[in-house]
Amino acid sequence: MNLRRAVFPVAGFGTRFLPASKAIPKELIPLVDKPAVQYVVEEAVAAGIDTAIFVTAEGKSALEDHFDRSLRLEAFLEARGKVALLEEMRRLGSLVEVVTVRQKEALGLGHAVLQGARAVGDEAFAVLLGDDVIIGHPPAIGRLAQLHAATGAPVVAVMEVSREEIRHYGCVAGEPVEEGVWRVHDLVEKPHPDEAPSNLAVIGRYIITPQVVQELKDTPFDRGGEIQLTEGLRRAAQRAPLYACTFPGERFDAGNKLDFLRATVTLGLRHPELGEGLRRHLEELLA
Ligand code: UTP
Repeated sequence: MNLRRAVFPVAGFGTRFLPASKAIPKELIPLVDKPAVQYVVEEAVAAGIDTAIFVTAEGKSALEDHFDRSLRLEAFLEARGKVALLEEMRRLGSLVEVVTVRQKEALGLGHAVLQGARAVGDEAFAVLLGDDVIIGHPPAIGRLAQLHAATGAPVVAVMEVSREEIRHYGCVAGEPVEEGVWRVHDLVEKPHPDEAPSNLAVIGRYIITPQVVQELKDTPFDRGGEIQLTEGLRRAAQRAPLYACTFPGERFDAGNKLDFLRATVTLGLRHPELGEGLRRHLEELLA
């Protein structure tokens, strides 16, 4: 069965990106000329997703507006003959069906996924983190959906990181089953590099099945008062197969200031109108 629905948890405070993320959701901060979350939604749409379920919070309503039509703006662009922009705004306004669900308190990513799951029903769905931007073709989430279609199991995306970096991620312990695919036996959240079972870091793309949702419902709040998605997945992996796979494309954590700058420069240099000017500027700066 093709996956049609995707949950985008965007209800966090984005503390790593303050002060920029105080009044503007960090997912709406642009990489060159598009908000980070638009890249993520476009990736999902390229993989066949037609419904985006945003798990939002107070102060995040601009996110819905971004994917809605603005008839006033369209009329303004039309009256001034700005045809290309008009077409672009119409495309954006009809890119995906939007459903919003509120997470009333920031009680963790697992809790946010549970709120989104209520709008899905009894079927598998994709989860994409709105600040985890992956640039590449074919779409990364499509690779996970393929593996889910072949196995019926939940899937997490992983990438290899250095031993030092693994302390910032969920980490997978598993056995390889084919090139770039592991059967997961255990998951450890932010391990100490000396204790990490591998250098495979879980990043923000998942296929969640009803079984994982059930495990999340049974997952207690941790000491910080949050329900961790990693913990729900760990419990699911202990009862039934769960897979991890690598994905095509380059990944940037747009919620991290340095990675945000890397993404901005990388995408800026590739931009058809801005790339050349930016390259010259960087060459002058570095000369
Ligand atoms: P992060 O930890 O990256 O986001 O959570 P954050 O909490 O917003 O940011 P920092 O770490 O304080 O800078 C991963 C994703 O999960 C969402 C966030 O919006 C982000 O997209 N999230 C997190 C929720 O929707 N609800 C939560 O309670 C926690």
